[in-house]
Amino acid sequence: MIPTPLPALLSLLLLSFFSSGSSARSILKSPPDDPRFLFSTRRSSSSDDQYCDSWRLSVETNNAGKWSTVPEKCVSFVAKYIEKGKYRSDSDVVAQDSLTFAKTVTLAGDGKDIWVFDIDETLLSNVPYYKANGWGSKKFNETAWDEWVIQAKAAALPASIKLYYELLKLGFHAVLLTGRDESQRSITEQNLLYAGYHSWTRLILRGDSDKGTTAVVYKSSKRAELEAEGYRIHGSSGDQWSDLFGSPMATRSLKLPNPMYFIS
Ligand SMILES: *[C@@H]1O[C@H](CO)[C@@H](O)[C@H](O)[C@H]1NC(C)=O
Repeated sequence: MIPTPLPALLSLLLLSFFSSGSSARSILKSPPDDPRFLFSTRRSSSSDDQYCDSWRLSVETNNAGKWSTVPEKCVSFVAKYIEKGKYRSDSDVVAQDSLTFAKTVTLAGDGKDIWVFDIDETLLSNVPYYKANGWGSKKFNETAWDEWVIQAKAAALPASIKLYYELLKLGFHAVLLTGRDESQRSITEQNLLYAGYHSWTRLILRGDSDKGTTAVVYKSSKRAELEAEGYRIHGSSGDQWSDLFGSPMATRSLKLPNPMYFIS
């Protein structure tokens, strides 16, 4: 163990080097290589933000695995992430990466080249619902969720609607694969149209035989059915890894950000 005064002393020295001009430069070579500097655990006033950003990375990479609610101390971080532009910017980059890949694909032009889209937090944004319900810090309330869904007023995620039409223009056909229930088909179609989507090839919802399975099992089995019909799944977009994982996978799977909830 390092005696506690040492890091404080070193930072003081470093500070004085920075402020004393060129004479300090040669001496400065060694301290930054010291791992204790590189991996400083010094906490600033925004230590919650730093922690929550790391938590978000863990969630997005699926390192976190199954999680239930946003940690209480990260609620304001999530609100800021969504509302202050980072969510928009992250989604835009995912859409750009999707399009870059899509342009490399040679399409057969037989109507069987498809791109699979998830709906909630992929094509449609339910941010108003989550904003009104603690940004994902509360346990999922199916009654409240269904009340929101039947309003059919979710807007398009800006990055996704742009990508959607760029892909159609390239010649891909859109298949929408959602965890929403078959009983919500017409309200979902209504919401998609309200948000500005049209011209999808197929909309797949959870039917009776899909009840009681995880999203990853349900969605991969639907991809298998699509492939059995001769469709080639070039790309798949979703905000959950369970939209994308499982055999068969699309040639490229693109993960949109979602720090508000997790679906297995
Ligand atoms: C779930 O939402 C409904 C409808 O908004 C509400 O009446 C109910 O109290 C909520 N349940 C819980 C446990 O919060």
